[in-house]
Amino acid sequence: MERKELINGGKVKSVYNTTDEDKVIIEFRDDMTAGDGERKEVMNKKGCLNAVISSKIFQYLESKGIKTQFIELLENNVMLAQKLDMIPIEVIVRNIATGSLVRKYPIEDGTKLDPPIVQMDYKDDEFHDPMLNYSIIKALGIATQDEIDILVELAGKVNDALREFFDQAGIILVDFKIEFGRDEEGNIILGDEISPDSCRLWDKETLEMMDKELFRKGKDDEVMDAYLEVYNRVLSDDDKSKYGL
Ligand code: C5P
Repeated sequence: MERKELINGGKVKSVYNTTDEDKVIIEFRDDMTAGDGERKEVMNKKGCLNAVISSKIFQYLESKGIKTQFIELLENNVMLAQKLDMIPIEVIVRNIATGSLVRKYPIEDGTKLDPPIVQMDYKDDEFHDPMLNYSIIKALGIATQDEIDILVELAGKVNDALREFFDQAGIILVDFKIEFGRDEEGNIILGDEISPDSCRLWDKETLEMMDKELFRKGKDDEVMDAYLEVYNRVLSDDDKSKYGL
């Protein structure tokens, strides 16, 4: 599969067309950003860790009947994926209140949310990813009512599956963000990545953070050890000997 022109140079990933018009190559770079891209650092091996962890999670979700754009890893930080028309909505699921939720609403940090909160933000750094509601989504013309219903339903299914996945690794899934796209027939497919960049993950025993929140809090020297710990816990020994990270 040959890489062709860059079609989306994101903050931490680059998406390329390929010689097969139905497939894209997603390169996970070592860049790390926070604050709508205002702070940026390069973290050695981050691209590989996120691509490998995302691949593992996408394969797990496929085994649970959830369609994803993942096809295969071509290199440790290079994913071959189904080409999708991405929907500019960040679907956020929260099992425990923290982050922007407790900054914006009178909910105490650490409160268990049952049922979980499903929230949708408009993916646009210029507007600082404002929260959406059904009427705004329709006014912006970014998704139909049926599609929104599917996003919410899939978000719940992904949450159920991922909570179990991380629980087996001794990790609490606090919250996460996912993105979806449409395939050629208009089916909604899970895309982008699911990694310590896009999830809040806490150690089940110590409640220590194991995700990008460390970077947001300026603990830059702890970030990659935390990502490596997630990698070590969620991948099998066979996988690890294959990737050698
Ligand atoms: O900051 P906030 O509390 O809204 O984040 C909720 C979840 O969504 C966190 O897991 C965070 O990592 C993720 N997120 C993300 N990309 C964004 C905004 C939030 O991955 N642009």
